[in-house]
Amino acid sequence: MARMGNLVILVLCLLGFLVAQNRAAYTPVDNYLIDCGASQKTTVDGRDFQSDSQSSSLLSTSQAILVTTASASVPSDLYLTARVFVKQSSYTFNIQQEGRHWVRLYFYPVPHPVYDLKSALFSVTTEKFVLLHNFSMKVDATASTYLFKEYLINVTSDSLTLTFAPMNSSIAFINAIEVVSVPDLLTSNVPMVLSPLGSFTGLPEIALETTYRLNVGGQKLTPKNDTLGRTWASDQSYLSLNSSAQNISVPASSINYPSSGTVTAEIAPNYVYATAEEMGNANVSNENFNITWAFSVDPDFSYFVRMHFCDIVSKALNEFVFNVFINSQTAINNLDLSSKTSQLATAYYTDFVVNGTGSSKLTVSIGPSSLDNGGSNAILNGLEIMKMSNEAGSLDGPYSVDGIIPGASKSSTKVGPIVGSVVGAAAALVLLAGGYYCFLRAPKSKSKHSPPAWLPLPLHGGNSHSMGSKVSTISHKSGTGSYVSSAQSNLGRYFTFAEIQEATNKFDESLLLGVGGFGKVYQGQLEDGTKVAVKRGNPRSEQGLTEFQTEIEMLSKLRHRHLVSLIGYCEEHCEMILVYEYMANGPLRSHLYGSNLPSLSWKQRLEVCIGAARGLHYLHTGAAQGIIHRDVKTTNILLDENLVAKVADFGLSKTGPTLDQTHVSTAVKGSFGYLDPEYFRRQQLTEKSDVYSFGVVLLEVLCARPALNPVLPREQVNIAEWAMHYQKKGMLDQIIDSHLAGTINPGSLKKFGETAEKCLEEQGIDRPAMGDVLWNLEYAYQLQETAMRNDPDENSTNHIAEIPLRYTQPEPFDTSIIDRGSDDDLADATTSAVFSQLVNPRGR
Ligand SMILES: *[C@@H]1O[C@H](CO)[C@@H](O)[C@H](O)[C@H]1NC(C)=O
Ligand SMILES: *[C@@H]1O[C@H](CO)[C@@H](O)[C@H](O)[C@H]1NC(C)=O
Ligand SMILES: *[C@@H]1O[C@H](CO)[C@@H](O)[C@H](O)[C@H]1NC(C)=O
Repeated sequence: MARMGNLVILVLCLLGFLVAQNRAAYTPVDNYLIDCGASQKTTVDGRDFQSDSQSSSLLSTSQAILVTTASASVPSDLYLTARVFVKQSSYTFNIQQEGRHWVRLYFYPVPHPVYDLKSALFSVTTEKFVLLHNFSMKVDATASTYLFKEYLINVTSDSLTLTFAPMNSSIAFINAIEVVSVPDLLTSNVPMVLSPLGSFTGLPEIALETTYRLNVGGQKLTPKNDTLGRTWASDQSYLSLNSSAQNISVPASSINYPSSGTVTAEIAPNYVYATAEEMGNANVSNENFNITWAFSVDPDFSYFVRMHFCDIVSKALNEFVFNVFINSQTAINNLDLSSKTSQLATAYYTDFVVNGTGSSKLTVSIGPSSLDNGGSNAILNGLEIMKMSNEAGSLDGPYSVDGIIPGASKSSTKVGPIVGSVVGAAAALVLLAGGYYCFLRAPKSKSKHSPPAWLPLPLHGGNSHSMGSKVSTISHKSGTGSYVSSAQSNLGRYFTFAEIQEATNKFDESLLLGVGGFGKVYQGQLEDGTKVAVKRGNPRSEQGLTEFQTEIEMLSKLRHRHLVSLIGYCEEHCEMILVYEYMANGPLRSHLYGSNLPSLSWKQRLEVCIGAARGLHYLHTGAAQGIIHRDVKTTNILLDENLVAKVADFGLSKTGPTLDQTHVSTAVKGSFGYLDPEYFRRQQLTEKSDVYSFGVVLLEVLCARPALNPVLPREQVNIAEWAMHYQKKGMLDQIIDSHLAGTINPGSLKKFGETAEKCLEEQGIDRPAMGDVLWNLEYAYQLQETAMRNDPDENSTNHIAEIPLRYTQPEPFDTSIIDRGSDDDLADATTSAVFSQLVNPRGR
């Protein structure tokens, strides 16, 4: 304990000395540092690593095979000793504070006459994640002979177990371990996905492995220079063309962190922001090239990319804007750091998720913008690239913990049993297993990942395994081709791939209706002339696979006039293709703003809302167990040729709580701006989360602006917050869509506003059920109808028929004249469609 105290004091002194801002150092709650095999504690970079005997109580085995070497060309003493495991063994760490933790592993094959550590072949797992599989220093250590691995694991229970499992009767070893709490670095931003364009909200469920962390334009930073003990390498060796870039730096003390607290020294130390690469020979006329960094990556994995920027070049604000590319795709168009930070030398960062592209190269480029009249420059200060765990929870190969560690399955039931427990048609399950099989086979098979010897056969039991999320579902699958006979399933018609190609004119891009998280949606036409929408999943996208499975499972159970119906599917050639009825009028959103479509009348809008509410009401109450949509938004409400609204996109749906539960516990998914704050806080999903999102939809329909629009003044960014402010003051009429001005019956508006307000109640229990929402909307519709019928003048509210109310009495109608809404509400709706996804809804 005294040692800890000293450490804290040391770090505090160091910080007080080095960091200009007066910030308290971060003190990790959990802080396990172990120098395995060491006979006494080892101090590295001012941190004390416990000796082997001090940490032996954490171990599952009492057998101690410790190896030591006197000297070696390794960067730290931690590598000089190791502990060897001849059979599967675990360290269990008590976790006092749930959340992200560093798990850092140090490997060096200490020479030993009996145990050949160099050829040791083993796997390392936590309860949920595979960190290393069939790992051997012989194969994996690149140039150097030692290896440092760093993982960022979200621990959601009170302990974390690290298991070392020798493979093929080999041995396992480890030289040093760190398990250390990390402050929240990941949740304040929602990473943007570039292909297909979208936002990535599943990060809490993902384990990350640091692949590259660069102090761009600067020297290597050691754990001493970083309050979270990170190492930042120099970027020099990753630059594609050295002469394209030149490094610049300012004193670290001159770096500002925004006073809003959105970026702190924990995100990256000021040393990172104080150096950058800029365009070589910048400010010379005719500058037109990119600076590119290239990285080798595992083609089968997705990567989290964080870029750090800080304008340390400009003399004044707004001197230059530039473009940022990832894998040659535009990541940020015309990045204007001045507008992000409002002052120079201020830290800023942004996050992306790069889906596995099948390429073993990932590139990041920056280049001047064509908009830029004067400066012609571009900068990058820091770059982090982290590998993301796949669907199987693995960071190394396609196998889940269950598939590698016999008996580990006890923990896997916690992971995600919700979907699997409600499997409907057996045929669907086989299809899903087949789909997964396809997914696994699609990438070139790596000899390194031979199938594990032991695999459970979960299809027999059926209800304790999360469907599709475990690789083990493939275990007894053999052969390829089609897995479903449509005759025995209710999945609709089976299409061959040739038929689909024909229907979509070989996926003609001019027939593209949209691009979503799952893949692309094309318009198509069947032989008989029926128009269809063809959704083609990206077979490499693991996220997509789960959503494909969920969607088929959900849709095969559901038929309703207000739900988009499935016509059939195709899963030939490992394709995941769904064929839906064609919705001629597209998403509701494009009828509200951001396009040139004619504006909908108030009556039409009410009809659309009522239709969508019916669809959701059916989802919540109609099916045997109740289904929560989880992604209710104006782009998921589609309109057919008669403007009948149908709810679409069940990719994120979950079946509702069973009778003995009150909620489904799940990681936060969905779209920002629509997310139920209670769900966000407690990760507990109920039907009332859909009700909240629907409340946001109602406001969008009324005000014709996006749920989130970051270009607006702060108090207007979030529609729910902004509109409720007016609603509570009885001034909702001030902010309605200008196209509606003067056409809404005040009683109808009042009812509508009250309904939205109830939907947006902070607590789920205070929100009405979807059935009540539906009823209230119908009432609002009738108020409008009656008013119009009785008085074509539309502003009069006389003679409204008495309609019985279920739980609210109508109040005297407000007959004030409805003002025209401000056109500002529509400002920049299209750009915000992209950028709204980057905004943090909790920052306000
Ligand atoms: C900056 O650039 C110079 C010249 O290209 C190079 O010698 C130096 O090592 C670079 N410094 C850093 C910190 O990368
Ligand atoms: C890293 O920290 C040390 C003090 O521990 C300091 O002397 C050094 O300048 C720092 N490195 C950089 C690149 O600023
Ligand atoms: C920079 O790279 C992007 C993506 O590859 C490319 O579209 C653009 O033309 C490049 N800019 C220049 C000036 O070469």
